Amino acid sequence: MAAYDYETHEYDCIVVGAGGSGLRATLGMAEQGLKTACITKVFPTRSHTVAAQGGIAASLGNMGPDHWQWHMYDTVKGSDWLGDTDAMEYLAREAPKAVYELEHYGVPFSRTEEGKIYQRPFGGHTTEFGEGPPVQRTCAAADRTGHAILHTLYGQSLKNNAEFYIEYFAIDLIMADDGTCQGVVAWCLDDGSIHVFNAKMTVLATGGYGRAYFSATSAHTCTGDGGGMVARAGLPLQDMEFVQFHPTGIYGSGCLITEGARGEGGYLTNSDGERFMERYAPTYKDLASRDVVSRCMTMEIREGRGVGAEGDHIHLHLNHLPPETLAERLPGISESARIFAGVDLTKEPIPVLPTVHYNMGGIPTNYWGEVLNPTEDNPDAVLPGLMAVGEAGCASVHGANRLGSNSLIDLVVFGRAAGIRAGEVVDRTSGNPKLNQASVDAALDRFDNLRHANGQVPTAELRLEMQKAMQADAAVFRTDKTLAEGVTKMTAIAKKMNDIQVTDRSLIWNSDLMETLEIENLMPNALATIVSAEARKESRGAHAHEDYPDRDDDNWRQHTLSWVDDADVRLAYRPVHLNPLLGHNDGGIDLARIAPKARVY
Ligand code: FUM
Repeated sequence: MAAYDYETHEYDCIVVGAGGSGLRATLGMAEQGLKTACITKVFPTRSHTVAAQGGIAASLGNMGPDHWQWHMYDTVKGSDWLGDTDAMEYLAREAPKAVYELEHYGVPFSRTEEGKIYQRPFGGHTTEFGEGPPVQRTCAAADRTGHAILHTLYGQSLKNNAEFYIEYFAIDLIMADDGTCQGVVAWCLDDGSIHVFNAKMTVLATGGYGRAYFSATSAHTCTGDGGGMVARAGLPLQDMEFVQFHPTGIYGSGCLITEGARGEGGYLTNSDGERFMERYAPTYKDLASRDVVSRCMTMEIREGRGVGAEGDHIHLHLNHLPPETLAERLPGISESARIFAGVDLTKEPIPVLPTVHYNMGGIPTNYWGEVLNPTEDNPDAVLPGLMAVGEAGCASVHGANRLGSNSLIDLVVFGRAAGIRAGEVVDRTSGNPKLNQASVDAALDRFDNLRHANGQVPTAELRLEMQKAMQADAAVFRTDKTLAEGVTKMTAIAKKMNDIQVTDRSLIWNSDLMETLEIENLMPNALATIVSAEARKESRGAHAHEDYPDRDDDNWRQHTLSWVDDADVRLAYRPVHLNPLLGHNDGGIDLARIAPKARVY
């Protein structure tokens, strides 16, 4: 057994991760007087939410008519009928409240002439249940909305006495013998000390796993740490086959160019200079949903109408827009285009390519953020003591495809919900139960084994192999052949974890060890993705299967569950929630409105 001294901390609630959802949960818990700590591997305002550009969806109706039911309809359709109805209703209904709370906390939103929060159009957001014109629903702080939210929530959390453990890496969950989560074991990157956090409620807000792919808009820190910890605890992941490609990553660097660019009037062209989206999505054109636009761009390139010397990308035009609009509404991407593409967007188009951006799948939860441990008898069984929010979780509000600007609202609505729920279920009068020492020891043993790993395969080499396999075989378009090859490749790659090589044995700022812990988290996420994708014999949302081009609601309108044990993945399925929270007579949506139909834009 590995011998490490450690310090033990006791809290009502701990939150792992300090992005938008983690900070919103931390704030909500601290505001209610729950003793709350946030543990984060990066400084809070460097969390990946800081990179969120275009905005946050809520039916405020500041720029024209809007209604939460229209937002819900768009989310249901965007999800390609895989989202859970209760969660999607909760999101759309609570969104305006959550945004006004942000405003009152101090988020510096852009403003209309009348001083209201400015809202822009985004893909897939419409009026009149998809029958009317695009709606301006995405509330924006120029094109730095995530940055504005993150700074505000961090300040508010500090004001409410939340405690922060910054640059602490969570190694593993501590699980009691009865299956309750009791907290986490963490490593302080800066002084090498080990810390055991005993908490009545642990919230995983660790973000997505975009870095399982070669080209992603995600930060290098997006390594699916929560999913990795959950998989090692023997719990399932959900709907991992659904990986979103953002249409406009900068060609080469993958750096994000916000969908807000098309919201403000930007458009895509092929090598003929044609606005090809008019052919594929005659009504909403460049503002069709992301999976649709990404597929159309890929088809243009495949059919020989890509731009550039190798015909392998597409042009995004903003050069027809007034320079003052670009300066006021899109200052961040003006800078990104110059730095990463060498383009002055007031004069030239930006070279772009669909780039991995978001994971619809994650740790299964209900709409309060409580983690599910489904059984045959109860597919909605709650695992006590554990929550997951934000991109790490799967409520499931985005189903098979997320709409742009529904991520920031997911972060704050479900971060807030987790805080409310913790206030109801955490008993602040009792002491914390004694920790399961065997679980703490197991976490430390794993840490120590990796620290002293003496194999032949350097971490960076294995990571690259995984990223290339995922990029090639779990791509925008998939076939039986690519997916089967992907499963074979990824199984072999995962087995190489047993031969990993770490050369730095120190405990202080050991980035070799940290990246090895991260790849051990990425690996189950990547494996679950490819195996779940190989099994799903239909096309739905972001899962575009060329051998099964149609959606098959009779057989596949169900969530995939995947349990990962080293290189083995076991799959099972659980039903999609079809019931809303509010009945139609109580002001809820008419279910006929959201019945499955062909998804055209
Ligand atoms: O395009 C964007 O600004 C990204 C927004 C989102 O992913 O929601």
